[in-house]
Amino acid sequence: MSKASNSFTCSACGASHRKWAGKCDACGGWNTIVEEAPLSTGPKSLGAKGRPIPLSDLATEEPAPPRASSGIDELDRVLGGGLVPASAILVGGDPGIGKSTLLLQAAASFARKGLKCLYISGEEAAAQVRMRAQRLGLTDARVRLGAETNLRDILTTLDAERPALAIIDSIQTMWLDQIEAAPGSVSQVRAAAHELVTFAKRKGVAVVLVGHVTKDGQIAGPRVVEHMVDTVLYFEGERGHQFRILRAVKNRFGPADEIGVFEMTGGGLAQVPNPSALFLANRDQPAPGSAVFAGIEGTRPVLTEIQALVAPSTLASPRRTVVGLDSGRVSTILAVLEARCGIPFTGLDVFLNVAGGLRVSEPASDLAVAGALLSAREDVAIPPDMVLFGEISLSGALRPVGQTENRLKEASKLGFSQATVPSHSKIEGATGLTVRQMPDLTAFVGEMFGAG
Ligand code: TYD
Ligand code: MG
Repeated sequence: MSKASNSFTCSACGASHRKWAGKCDACGGWNTIVEEAPLSTGPKSLGAKGRPIPLSDLATEEPAPPRASSGIDELDRVLGGGLVPASAILVGGDPGIGKSTLLLQAAASFARKGLKCLYISGEEAAAQVRMRAQRLGLTDARVRLGAETNLRDILTTLDAERPALAIIDSIQTMWLDQIEAAPGSVSQVRAAAHELVTFAKRKGVAVVLVGHVTKDGQIAGPRVVEHMVDTVLYFEGERGHQFRILRAVKNRFGPADEIGVFEMTGGGLAQVPNPSALFLANRDQPAPGSAVFAGIEGTRPVLTEIQALVAPSTLASPRRTVVGLDSGRVSTILAVLEARCGIPFTGLDVFLNVAGGLRVSEPASDLAVAGALLSAREDVAIPPDMVLFGEISLSGALRPVGQTENRLKEASKLGFSQATVPSHSKIEGATGLTVRQMPDLTAFVGEMFGAG
């Protein structure tokens, strides 16, 4: 019988490789591949017979699982309408972004709704967590607290206590005594997550795993456990901004791409129920280089301001600095403007930014990006009461995007009175806006900035 050999795993993305290499082919990370002992060596001998597992039909009489609401609407929406019992949730994010704060507040809210909650901290002492709870005004909530990193002890405690929700902060500090690897290594993180997820399913306890995103290969990132859990949430935010966005990247019980918006205050995280108003704050004067994009984040329309600055460059290859948008997409838009409308950006530095620190990934933002770029280049302001959206194809044509009416309604609600959208956009009811439909980018340039 051949001895199971060690495998090589990328500590950033979890991809497995046959042999060690300096660079991971899957995620492109350098020096992230580590050697680890095999997790399972499979059945002892192929001759041994297994036990047949019970199979069932797809038809079901079981009602949908009852969801527990936390009372924090922004959190409940991202979870797909509340916490599903016996589900496993991963909350990832950069260190210091506010994961522990969010989850302590969530635990307290669930506890106030009558759920039995356990908070296990592997990073901080119980006294530190209590001090934070005091600062957040949560000391009256009946959350049981533990400070431990030994997973065997944690599982025994969970089994005895049987809470409805257990929070493990963080998965990278947990260790199993039967695995010979340091806490935070790929094998420990994966085995600990596997134990906790299996426990959640078997005993009906919802578990939340906190995972730090890591840039270096020293400790395994949350990507290693993404496929094991039901729901993956990332807590993001730009450094220097107080806004934090909780984004569902994967959700077996609800829509992915849903976002919840929070603000970090002295008293913890506060909900931002109307993010559009927040991302559009301080826009009274018409300013060149600014365009308002009516976007959709998950199931909700969100308006954001796209800002551009175009200035003569002294560099041989001019700067293209893009924050909050996909830079490849921006290069494409610049190329289409040059090739189809004859508006070159050669010799010009281009800076693009989404105000408020939001990340916009929808192709529907193309028209707003083009609008901001042209407005900055021509030094002509777009009317401040206008929203833009639409996808730009390589031919320069504008393509309609989904949920046109939702976008227009949100704009109308926030006091906008005009919209520029692609031709053939689906608009049936009254939207309260003057809507201009454009077939292509050339028509848009002619209409907004005079003959291109
Ligand atoms: P924390 O929840 O510890 O982050 P993580 O668990 O993701 O590492 O949050 C740490 C930061 O949040 C810290 O820099 C201080 C800030 N913070 C506030 O601004 N207000 C507060 O009420 C709290 C508790 C933290
Ligand atoms: Mg923390």
